[in-house]
Amino acid sequence: MIKIKTQEDIKKMRIAGKLAAEVLEMITPFVKPGISTEKLDDICHDYIVKNQKAIPANVGYRGFEKTLCTSINQVVCHGIPSANNILRDGDIINIDVTVLKDGWHGDTSKMFLVGKTKPHNERLVKVTQECLYKAIDLVKPGATLGDIGHAIQTHAEKNYYSVVEDYCGHGIGEIYHEEPQVLHYGSPGQGTEIVEGMSFTIEPMLNLGTKYTKILSDGWTVETKDGKNSAQWEHTLAVTTAGCEVLTLRKEESL
Ligand code: MF3
Ligand code: CO
Ligand code: CO
Repeated sequence: MIKIKTQEDIKKMRIAGKLAAEVLEMITPFVKPGISTEKLDDICHDYIVKNQKAIPANVGYRGFEKTLCTSINQVVCHGIPSANNILRDGDIINIDVTVLKDGWHGDTSKMFLVGKTKPHNERLVKVTQECLYKAIDLVKPGATLGDIGHAIQTHAEKNYYSVVEDYCGHGIGEIYHEEPQVLHYGSPGQGTEIVEGMSFTIEPMLNLGTKYTKILSDGWTVETKDGKNSAQWEHTLAVTTAGCEVLTLRKEESL
């Protein structure tokens, strides 16, 4: 069952989404060589709790203990912030945060280039963001989730990247992960029809090498099987009459 949101619901999601976006804006100047992912996590945790008077939704989610997922280089998603994990020049990192405010969730992530990065990494990061934007462009009543997945897969494969199939986007609202599943691959016209009032994330993960992943012994960290780098970008959006509203849009973006 897909929960359709009212205008009142979306008003609250808009607030949660904006807060999540503001966490990523706030942390940006700190993402530099030498900082630990734990420090980044501490800063975001305090900002959400003290400044935003909101709840870091990842904390306690299925036993996860941190505010952020920090996924560096070959880590696909769900990297656990740690004092031992120090950003190095040339790394690429995804920071993924979900803010819970007034009972509603906003879930978003972006990639950061740490110091001076290799062109092949920059290109992966850029194409992955393009995939997200192309998908968002297609979201409107009457389109299908297959259209979305197809747009992502097509743009990824045209650029010789693979799309991770083991993790997907999701409905979001009062519940963090709800129906529908939003696959990042698919066929035009297939899958659930998009209707006004749906809210879901799109969060494509693209790999330099093969699409296969493995989970490390910590039970969370997802890495590429071949050890090659991976990138991800995520937005939460709400479907409107004629298109969609990106609830987690940052100031640096123009969509
Ligand atoms: N934010 C992730 C997503 O995009 C989920 C993280 S769950 C956690 O759906 F427990 F690892 F934080
Ligand atoms: Co998500
Ligand atoms: Co997320």
